[in-house]
Amino acid sequence: MASSDKSRRVWRDVTVFDGDQTLEGLQAVIVEGDIFVDVLPMADTDAALLDSGEDMGSGGVITPGLIDCHTHLVFGGNRAEEFEARLEGVSYEEVARRGGGILSTVNATRQASEDDLVASALPRLDALIADGVTTIEIKSGYGLDVEHEMKMLRAARRLGELRPIRVVTTLLGAHALPPEFKDDSDDYIDLVCNEMIPRAAAEGLADAVDVFCEKIAFSVSQCERVFKAANAYGLPIKAHAEQLSNLGGSAAAARHGALSADHIEYLDEAGIEAMREAGTLAVILPGAFHTLRETQQPPIEALREAGVPMAVATDANPGTSPLFQATLMLNLACTLFRMTPGEALAGMTAHGAQALGLNELGRVAPGQPADLCRWHIETPAELAYAVQPGRLAQRLYRGELTEG
Ligand code: NIG
Ligand code: FE
Repeated sequence: MASSDKSRRVWRDVTVFDGDQTLEGLQAVIVEGDIFVDVLPMADTDAALLDSGEDMGSGGVITPGLIDCHTHLVFGGNRAEEFEARLEGVSYEEVARRGGGILSTVNATRQASEDDLVASALPRLDALIADGVTTIEIKSGYGLDVEHEMKMLRAARRLGELRPIRVVTTLLGAHALPPEFKDDSDDYIDLVCNEMIPRAAAEGLADAVDVFCEKIAFSVSQCERVFKAANAYGLPIKAHAEQLSNLGGSAAAARHGALSADHIEYLDEAGIEAMREAGTLAVILPGAFHTLRETQQPPIEALREAGVPMAVATDANPGTSPLFQATLMLNLACTLFRMTPGEALAGMTAHGAQALGLNELGRVAPGQPADLCRWHIETPAELAYAVQPGRLAQRLYRGELTEG
C-alpha cells in the first residue's frame, strides 16, 4: 500500500447505489477524512489513484449510510398486552379510547428516569446501527408535560453522544391528550405552544416539531396552532397525518411549509397536490401498516406521478411498529406497497435525509459527508429482497469506520 496520506481511503470494484440510483458498472470510491472525494468507474481509474490511499477492500455494494427519518425509539415499558388485545379484534382507536395505547406508554415513560430511558433505548439503537443506520430521528411524545417531554429529548440527545450515530430530535408534544387535560384539548395545545416549544427551543433540545393529526389525537386547526408556534421559533415541522382517516392534516402541514407528512394511507389528491406545491415529502411507514393490519394503501402511484419524493422509515415505537430493523422496511415497502427496491432505498437514504432537512446527507457523491455502508451483496435490490441480518460489511460514520 503506497499511502502517504492515512486519511485517504479507497474502495475498489464496488457496485454503488448513490442515494438516487445504481451507478452503471463497477466503481472506485475514495474518501478523504469525512468527505467523499471521488466516485469513479473502475475502467476510468488509473492504478496510481487506486494506490493513493488505504485499501479498504473490494467487492460488494456501497450505499449511503441509512437514514431512519421517523422513530419513537425512546420510551418506557412495552405494549405486548395491547398486541394481544388487537389480535382478538380490538382496534387501535378502541385501545386509545379506553385509555391504553399511547397513554399506557406515557405512564411507563413518566415513571422512567432519563437514565432508564437511555438504557432501554440503547439495545434498539444498537440493532439499527448494526443494520447500517448512520442518522436517526427520535421523537418525544410519551411525556406529554413539559418536564417529561424535555426528559425524553435529553435522553435522545444522549444516545447520540453514546454511539456513533447522528441523532435528530423532534418534539411531539401534540401526540395524545394527557389525562390531566381530559376535555380541555385546547388548553393542552396552549401548553405545547406556549411552554413546550419555547423551552425546547431555548435549551436546544428539538430540531423539529411534529403533531398527530387524527380523530383520536388533535384537529387540523389545533395542529395549525402548533405549526405556527414552531415556525415562530424557527423550528421545521412535520405531521403524522392521514394514518387512520382523512382529515386534511397533510395539506395543512404543507401549507405551513412542513418538511414531511408521514403515514398518509388516507391521503387524497388535494393533499398530494398541496404537498407537491410546497415541496413536502411523503414519509412511508410500512411497519405501522403491517402491525395494525391496515388495508388502506398509501397512494404510492399518485405520489410517484406527482413527483412527491418518498422517504421510508421504521416508525420504531412500542405500539404500532415494534420493529427495530431498517432493512426490513425496505422489504415491506416493496412487498406491501409495490415500491421498487430502488425507490425504497432512496427512501432510506437521499429522501430520508431530505425529510429531515439534511439535504447534504444520504448520498455517495463527491463533496458529500462520508457516511457509508458496504454490504456483502451483489446488487442493491438484494437489500430489499431478503430480510437477512449480518450483511453489513463496513459502516463509515463521519469518516470513521465503526463496523467491519
Ligand atoms: O407513528 N400515530 C401515532 N403515533 C405513532 C404510534 C405511537 C404509539 O402507538 O405508541 C405512530 O404510529
Ligand atoms: Fe410515528
